[in-house]
Amino acid sequence: MPAATRREMMGGAMMLAMLAWGGRALADSDSMIEGLIGQMSVEEKAGQLTLMGDLLRLPETFAQVNPGYRETNGQKAEAEIRAGRLGGLFNGAGVAAGRRLQKVATEESRLKIPLIFGADVVHGFHTVFPIGLGEAASFEPELARRTARAAALEATAFGLHWTFAPMVDIARDQRWGRAAEGAGEDTLLGRLFAEARVKGFQGNALNDPDSLLACPKHMAAYGAVGAGMDYNSVELSDQTLYEVYLPPFRQAFLAGALSTMSGFNDINGVPASASKRLLTDVLRRQWGFKGFVVSDYESDLELVAHGYAKDERDAARLALLAGVDMSMASGLYIKHLPGLVADGSVPMSAVDESVRRVLFVKKALGLFDDPYRSLDPQKEATRSLTPATRALSREAGRKSIVLLKNDGGLLPLARTSRIALIGPFADDVANLNGPWAPFADRRVGVSLAEGIGARIQGPGELTVVKGCDIESPIPGGIDQALAAARGAEVILLAVGEGAAMSGEAQSRTAIVLPPDQQALVEAMAATGKPVVILLRSGRALALGGAARNARAILATWFLGTETGNAVADILFGDTSPSGRLPVSFPFESGQEPFYYNHRGTGRPEEAGQSSEYKARYRETSNAALFPFGHGLTYGDIRYDKPTVSAPTLPWDGTIRVSAKVTNAGKREAEEVVQLYIHDKVASLTRPVLELKGFEKVRLKPGESRLVTFAVTRRDLEFIGEDLVPVAEPGEFEVWICGSAASGVATTFTLASQ
Ligand code: GLC
Repeated sequence: MPAATRREMMGGAMMLAMLAWGGRALADSDSMIEGLIGQMSVEEKAGQLTLMGDLLRLPETFAQVNPGYRETNGQKAEAEIRAGRLGGLFNGAGVAAGRRLQKVATEESRLKIPLIFGADVVHGFHTVFPIGLGEAASFEPELARRTARAAALEATAFGLHWTFAPMVDIARDQRWGRAAEGAGEDTLLGRLFAEARVKGFQGNALNDPDSLLACPKHMAAYGAVGAGMDYNSVELSDQTLYEVYLPPFRQAFLAGALSTMSGFNDINGVPASASKRLLTDVLRRQWGFKGFVVSDYESDLELVAHGYAKDERDAARLALLAGVDMSMASGLYIKHLPGLVADGSVPMSAVDESVRRVLFVKKALGLFDDPYRSLDPQKEATRSLTPATRALSREAGRKSIVLLKNDGGLLPLARTSRIALIGPFADDVANLNGPWAPFADRRVGVSLAEGIGARIQGPGELTVVKGCDIESPIPGGIDQALAAARGAEVILLAVGEGAAMSGEAQSRTAIVLPPDQQALVEAMAATGKPVVILLRSGRALALGGAARNARAILATWFLGTETGNAVADILFGDTSPSGRLPVSFPFESGQEPFYYNHRGTGRPEEAGQSSEYKARYRETSNAALFPFGHGLTYGDIRYDKPTVSAPTLPWDGTIRVSAKVTNAGKREAEEVVQLYIHDKVASLTRPVLELKGFEKVRLKPGESRLVTFAVTRRDLEFIGEDLVPVAEPGEFEVWICGSAASGVATTFTLASQ
């Protein structure tokens, strides 16, 4: 799997140009656009660079808060659009109101430039799919492309042109609540899912009315916030920035994404939303990006709070000049750009360049050809929650579930079992979707109780008891749970994080079960009945006590609309679990930031050696409770030691690394076979392990398969001190195995040039 390289970056510029225009060569200047710019006042230009909340079409949940909200703000928005002071709206949906707004823009304003409508369609629209982290556990980028495509079909049917997704931030610290939104801790997985989601959202041609403009976010390194605290500063070496955090963005742009969102965080003292290095030097000059950059919600205004801009006006200047083309929510550009241009603080040419990019993307979307694309009442009436979309949500849910433990083969359960389903999520629909599902149709979510209950066959029975709330006790709740457990053969504990505990501004100091839930788990374990943990979360958790010691544990993330059915499909063995961890589960919260591809240190803990004076903690080894890539099946998967087609990899050659994989179990299984390497000696210390490829294989009971990966020098490159990708001759270890903490290595040598 070739790593992202500088050479590719330059080559990518041309590819980007071709991709950006649906395969046609990109015209650097477009006569229609230049003609418009030539007519626009500086205020109309600032208007095209202004994006405000779609107060007229906010989801019903917002309007219920203040019924007058829509009309008051709706009329204000229409006046701003009519005056040419507003070029786009976000987080509203609905065709009728969208048509009205678009009519104002294209018939009542002076230059009749169509509006762009954006929203957070991150993991589904009305039909909700697993959160990004959960879907990444499928290790199936094609699945992510399909769910993004399905989300685009729903969202464009409801008047949207643009999604603020995919979220492509690498997350190595699970205290950070936004780990939920991305693809986890690994850069290869991050790159592949970023690419797949962009392709799904944008479809084959951006000007297709069913295509949704993608916006990989948050540029860049937002996941590296200090101590996992959201919005915190980022201190990061350039080498790690280029090797770990930037590649998913570049992959998204190579896949054709034509917008991106600048982050809230600063990097080494420079706020991302004022970083000329990121938003111009890297994005434009190195990568040849032709789309536009939008600020993250008021991240331009926040330059004042960062202590980087002295006031709003200065913030607008710094953001625009750094490369933030469009200002979201703050209104800083419409308020200050005319004055900044008038006094020469911002050259008109810089404003024109941003307007050019925005108009280029609006044209690429087909909005000038058909301003009412994505505003078709017929599609709105027929596209929501179709059986196919719901079936896809259920499939994605199944494939996202990770079986962490299954002692004694407790799972799958018989449908005739007597089951006690206990916990705050047992019969819950309010927390199925997790963070960033603002358009979810909450009338249709399938709870665990509903999904599991539908599968019980006589004489089986299902008893459902809450036992406690998410973060508080219920008087008598544990006693009620104990009563239910007494009559049961097996206890299912539906525990974990509520939706409000995950996502933006939900960093946690301890990534554990809330205390009242832990108490419930301990009480249930004390009954001696077999316990299955159905773990709902937006991150890795440090499971302890009876939760860690349960016979079986399923990581179920937030699975979305079809949660209950997807969990039941796995619980009763209709499908063998195939998910694998995209993040490492630590023993203790204190190990965070914790990730598998860490550097080795001078005192690594070695198996079988004293752990005195080694890189670990007093309280725990710095190993994973459940490692990256881990996941069990209902089979019994065995790996032979890998072999290499030759002991030496020629500088410009290829070797094949193979291993026989066998299902020694009694049930069919789907295994994610993983390829890892370790560069034993290099000019920079290298990670102890790096994922370089994976392949899902389905194995019948007793079946063996020889799985082979082709490895070239490109797979061995890393970012050197001069920030240029480099491969260095020498010895490498290589594994083919089922997780980052299993398998036996073999070695090969990369020959010199
Ligand atoms: C939020 C998030 C961003 C989202 C934007 C618009 O603060 O950081 O991911 O797309 O605002 O809702």
